[in-house]
Amino acid sequence: MRLLVLQQDLGSWTAQQICKKIRTFSPTAQKPFVLGLPTGGTVEGMYAQLRTLYQQGELDFSHIITFNMDEYAGLSPQDPQSYHYYMQHHLFEGINLPENQHHILNGQAPDLHAECKAYEKAILASGGIHLFLGGVGRNGHIAFNEPGSSFSSRTRLVKLEENTRQANARFFDGDVSRVPTHALSVGIGTVLDANEILFLASGEAKAQAVARLALGEITPSWPITALKTHPNATLLVDVKAALALPQAMQENIRKELAKSPTQPAQILL
Ligand code: GLP
Repeated sequence: MRLLVLQQDLGSWTAQQICKKIRTFSPTAQKPFVLGLPTGGTVEGMYAQLRTLYQQGELDFSHIITFNMDEYAGLSPQDPQSYHYYMQHHLFEGINLPENQHHILNGQAPDLHAECKAYEKAILASGGIHLFLGGVGRNGHIAFNEPGSSFSSRTRLVKLEENTRQANARFFDGDVSRVPTHALSVGIGTVLDANEILFLASGEAKAQAVARLALGEITPSWPITALKTHPNATLLVDVKAALALPQAMQENIRKELAKSPTQPAQILL
């Protein structure tokens, strides 16, 4: 897999890459481009750029199908802290993606297990995910697959770790007691089924998870390390998230970035 370190804003670089991939694919109604989508602070800039690219006529979402990674259990789609609401606000209301082409797990479904099963079926029926975008939790979680999740896990109801609830409390007015205890999440296996994976991590809070990926063994204790088992996976990080990498690696990154400051430095893992 590739670790890319970018000096500039991750959002615009990522949105440009997505745009290129979609245009190269040339989606049609018969052959839509299927995107896996994340939520979280890290990807807000990426969504803003995608909206801009749409407004500038660079990107057409009419033949794109999307599947979001996760949703809190128990929150209604109208709840401002739900991922439904996040997606409406950050992306869907600013682009031309038809409503029946975006999918988000329903955290209020009467039968949550049936909801998860149906989600896996819907992904399969769409032909599978071409590009799965994602963020990384401070503890290395991907989607809501907390440490210990099996690499073959599928979409399911999961219990959130206390530290994840604390990290996400900032979206709930800092009140951790309001953060749901459970969520619905695609599995690590669901993510690994995608043709290509592009995950993003920014800020020092993610530096440990990034260093684990770069140096450590492949282990369910750090779900992010599952990306190493995929033939076409990339983790794009900013300079702060690269701060816990060993000095020699950081030195190489600095040299590469000095040569071409607008391009990411690449490390093969
Ligand atoms: C949540 C989401 C993850 C996301 C993570 C990081 O826990 N379920 O999919 O990667 O937050 O979020 P942030 O970008 O806000 O740090």
